[in-house]
Amino acid sequence: MKVSLREWALSDAPALAKLINNKKVQDNLRDGLPFPYGEADAKVFISEMLASDPDQNIAFAIEAEGELIGSISASRCGNIHYRTAELGYYLGEPYWGKGYATEAVCQLCDYVFQRTDILRIFAEPFAYNKASCRVLEKSGFQLEGVLRSNAVKNGRILDMKLYSRIREN
Ligand SMILES: CC(C)(COP(=O)(O)OP(=O)(O)OC[C@H]1O[C@@H](n2cnc3c(N)ncnc32)[C@H](O)[C@@H]1OP(=O)(O)O)[C@@H](O)C(=O)NCCC(=O)NCCS
Repeated sequence: MKVSLREWALSDAPALAKLINNKKVQDNLRDGLPFPYGEADAKVFISEMLASDPDQNIAFAIEAEGELIGSISASRCGNIHYRTAELGYYLGEPYWGKGYATEAVCQLCDYVFQRTDILRIFAEPFAYNKASCRVLEKSGFQLEGVLRSNAVKNGRILDMKLYSRIREN
């Protein structure tokens, strides 16, 4: 296994800041992250992850090659959706194209379905984000539809795709 998921540590802040202080990464995520993104921002994020309820926010650092390479989480939704969770992930650019994200998504899904009562994990990549759509397809997610004109990012109106993976047993 090339990839491992582990708890965040405050000492990850410098490496995390390097991974995410990159427009090419941030352009594929929702808005709200600072840019430039520095170590202080990373410390805030990591502190939030460490303080969050692990049954509500299942968040891990992704490690490979002996280094921090990215971030992954499944966030439980509320109200009648309380047994669904939204998946999010990113890797630093030097680590793209090596199969790491697919391994991380598969490991997170196994963890969520084994350790929580969540029934459904979903993700909403931008439709143009072929690499992310492929990661989901390789990780056993099904395409449920295209969410037309569902976001405005960097001034562009974008479609998103809705993928989900359902608990099997
Ligand atoms: C999306 C992201 C997580 C992919 O990580 P990764 O480790 O490179 O993904 P993997 O190597 O596991 O798989 C990528 C797949 O997409 C394919 N792919 C990559 N770019 C592609 C493109 N432009 N068109 C079609 N397929 C593409 C790869 O060939 C591979 O599929 P294959 O194994 O069938 O050949 C990474 O690029 C990233 O962090 N991007 C920025 C943030 C982001 O987009 N996060 C997801 C938000 S929904």
